Amino acid sequence: MNNTNDVNNPLWDGESLDSLAKLASARFEWHWEDTAIAGEMRRLAVASDPEGMLIDACERQDAGEEGVIDPFWATTWRAASGLDHYLNNLVLQDLQVLELGCGTGHAGLAAACRGAHVVFTDGVTDPLILVKMSIWQLRNQCQVRQLRFGIDQLDGQQFPLILGSDITYLRNLWPELNRCLHDHLCAGGQILLSDPYRIIANEFREWIQNHGWVYQEHKIDMQDDPTHPIRVMQLTKN
Ligand SMILES: C[S@@+](CC[C@H](N)C(=O)[O-])C[C@H]1O[C@@H](n2cnc3c(N)ncnc32)[C@H](O)[C@@H]1O
Repeated sequence: MNNTNDVNNPLWDGESLDSLAKLASARFEWHWEDTAIAGEMRRLAVASDPEGMLIDACERQDAGEEGVIDPFWATTWRAASGLDHYLNNLVLQDLQVLELGCGTGHAGLAAACRGAHVVFTDGVTDPLILVKMSIWQLRNQCQVRQLRFGIDQLDGQQFPLILGSDITYLRNLWPELNRCLHDHLCAGGQILLSDPYRIIANEFREWIQNHGWVYQEHKIDMQDDPTHPIRVMQLTKN
């Protein structure tokens, strides 16, 4: 069976880099970008005009179109790089890892490069096409699925490590995100959420501690801009 158009296909049946590239090109402009991931330069498939896509989405929303989703996935955020740095402290070989709101998948790819088995997820399917291309060499240890916070669940699957880079930026997503975290973390597991010290994430830090989590925080100094470190929030079950 040819599942070329099914981004939720975890088995990669009938897909090739070429068919994925064609699928992505039919949706938006994209290119390969050399990116430092897990300490080496690797190729990440990224959207070519994230700003233009955001403006387009805003214009369509302003024109009254319903169901238009902000394409925040189209940028690879610095928080992903900070989380990548933090992962260097962990032993990830053969660990089952879930990435939520993966966007272009930098954080999950950083885990996969360190030997983890990673399920990459996002609420929208466009970025998942790019993720499938970026992880092509590691596809035997990776799955790619659509997962909308609070709506979808991965068939009773639970993980010892859940990653999320820059996914705490909207207050109205927190209850659904919290439910998703409780649903998918296994006993004794941990969650790592990174952000660039956003003010809204300070508020999230207080909120999440009242929802069944033990909170610890780590500061990651970044070489690209030492004045703007990245925060990694570590959550474990009460
Ligand atoms: C700021 S972007 C971060 C992307 C990526 N993690 C990174 O750091 O580059 C937020 C991501 O969360 C995803 N997202 C937003 N709302 C979501 C929801 N309700 N369920 C799942 N993913 C969602 C977006 O599609 C986007 O990919």
